[in-house]
Amino acid sequence: MIELTDYSDAGWSGVDVAARSRFYCEQLERGEILFIDGARFGLPESDRAALMKLAPDSLRQKNISYAPSTGQVAGLRGAATDRNLTDALARYSAAAVRFCAGLLAPYSATWRVELASFRPVEEHDRPLSITERNDLLHIDAFPGRPTNGARILRFFTNIHPDEKRVWLTSDPIPKLAARGEFAAMMLNCVRAADSPASRALGQLMHGAARIGVALPDRSSYDRAMLRLHDNMKRDAEFQADCPKHRHEFAPGASWLVFTDTIPHAVLAGQFALEQSFFVARDSLLAPDASPLAVIERLAGRVMTKQDRTSVGLRGALERQ
Ligand code: SIN
Ligand code: FE
Repeated sequence: MIELTDYSDAGWSGVDVAARSRFYCEQLERGEILFIDGARFGLPESDRAALMKLAPDSLRQKNISYAPSTGQVAGLRGAATDRNLTDALARYSAAAVRFCAGLLAPYSATWRVELASFRPVEEHDRPLSITERNDLLHIDAFPGRPTNGARILRFFTNIHPDEKRVWLTSDPIPKLAARGEFAAMMLNCVRAADSPASRALGQLMHGAARIGVALPDRSSYDRAMLRLHDNMKRDAEFQADCPKHRHEFAPGASWLVFTDTIPHAVLAGQFALEQSFFVARDSLLAPDASPLAVIERLAGRVMTKQDRTSVGLRGALERQ
């Protein structure tokens, strides 16, 4: 983990802004977590209070999500959404996007600002199915939101007044893939993504997406990453034997991480906010360190869709 030392929501305090910005981008791509002290990024106390008032039993799904493009909040039962909650999520999302755009300038012209989320439930011992569990190490891949090789960057903030958020992480994908067992797990995922049945389903979904039916249009890369997410959680040996690093994020702290390369698990903590970004492939500073590079090396072929409408190509980054 590295710590942000020369940037805050008031701007940069260093001299060579372009070099520092590139440094942080590259460290993140290579699998560092960037720790941001609470004094560098904060949210208004009234918004924190509005969020913490939410009753955990008002959730309809794992987390509450907020779509910056539409202002829609999802994941709450019936009438539970109130104006204060929506406004607090909107302000957090806007502040997080502004903060990250100033910090990580090489990405912000072409990234896609994705969903924000609010995680109001205590994570310790949450009763969830195995592939939903947050306390098992996994990389992120979203079933409904394929990236086609764009990378998943997430900005988290612990808004609990006095409880830490405790994470376990493992080594980034390129380092894990140097181990025989992990490379074998990845190769299985690549083969499954390339199986005739999986490809046929992919083509069906692609056809549906082209005629406007709202189905995720997944590339081979997306299918392999979804498998990897599930297989990592299901593999008891991997969970037990992989290298592990523990992190405790203090109340008020934020952190940035490419969750598509860093296996992560949350062991304890309540009340976190998060903003996601899809970082376009051609704005990466270290494309060789991406999970796509590892997967394509294992597959021996291109695993993304090459058409101009796919996320990850400059100039075609409209929100869905
Ligand atoms: C996750 O992305 O797996 C959960 C992380 C968290 O909620 O702290
Ligand atoms: Fe995750």
